[in-house]
Amino acid sequence: MPSIDPQEGDFYATDGYCTHEKVHLEGGLVMGSTIECPKHNGRFDIATGEPVRKPACKALQTYPVKVQNDKVYIQLD
Ligand code: FES
Repeated sequence: MPSIDPQEGDFYATDGYCTHEKVHLEGGLVMGSTIECPKHNGRFDIATGEPVRKPACKALQTYPVKVQNDKVYIQLD
């Protein structure tokens, strides 16, 4: 799930499903550097994947991102 930090213009990539109950974060509310899960309002830090509000308690997997020639590359294992 690539995401943009609107304050910095940086790109980040995380898994797209909440670690609490596997709900897709696509409809989640992005606030600064956090995203809020639409089901139970758990929050994650977009840059690190770490949970910052319960009931989310396990980090999202994050992936390195590189921007080159106006293209965004996500390094998947
Ligand atoms: S499913 Fe995301 S916080 Fe519960």
